Amino acid sequence: MSRLDSMLRRLTAQRDGLNWAAAQINDTDGDVLDMGLGNGRTYDHLRETLPSRRIWVMDRVLQCHPDSTPPARDFLQGEAEPMLQKLAEAGRMIALAHYDFGRGIKSEDIAEAARLSPLIEQVMHPGGLLISGQPLVGFKQIKGPDTIAPDRYLFYRA
Ligand SMILES: C[S@@+](CC[C@H](N)C(=O)[O-])C[C@H]1O[C@@H](n2cnc3c(N)ncnc32)[C@H](O)[C@@H]1O
Repeated sequence: MSRLDSMLRRLTAQRDGLNWAAAQINDTDGDVLDMGLGNGRTYDHLRETLPSRRIWVMDRVLQCHPDSTPPARDFLQGEAEPMLQKLAEAGRMIALAHYDFGRGIKSEDIAEAARLSPLIEQVMHPGGLLISGQPLVGFKQIKGPDTIAPDRYLFYRA
């Protein structure tokens, strides 16, 4: 498969997964967390899909498209560890978390996701949903939408 085809499949799975998860949290109180602002594509999609939720977004740099710039009060700029600790101080209030850290080096991305998992767990509302491009540790893996191959995007419940 070409890298273009692979990227298209990843982005389609990401969008379908976010839409599916957003529809699942109707009965769960709480905010949304997007880990990895990047260009701001998933952040923009989440705020369009869930306009009544507060959407926190995290990244070590602010380098998104100008149209996707988050309000300063919702942007956690810094390394993931201290930013997750800061968010945890506000309580377990995340109903939906999207994990999109990583730079494409599989072994490093998997190790980082495993290292961050206990910190992510501390911000999750009981029963909250996580969707992730990398395997997370310590959560119950659940089946996502039928349209997404099980290894392409991963779904968990806190
Ligand atoms: C794949 S991009 C995110 C793409 C974004 N979700 C989008 O749709 O445009 C990953 C982002 O995560 C950030 N990142 C990766 N590891 C991080 C870490 N440990 N702490 C903070 N930011 C991190 C990078 O700076 C990068 O902008």
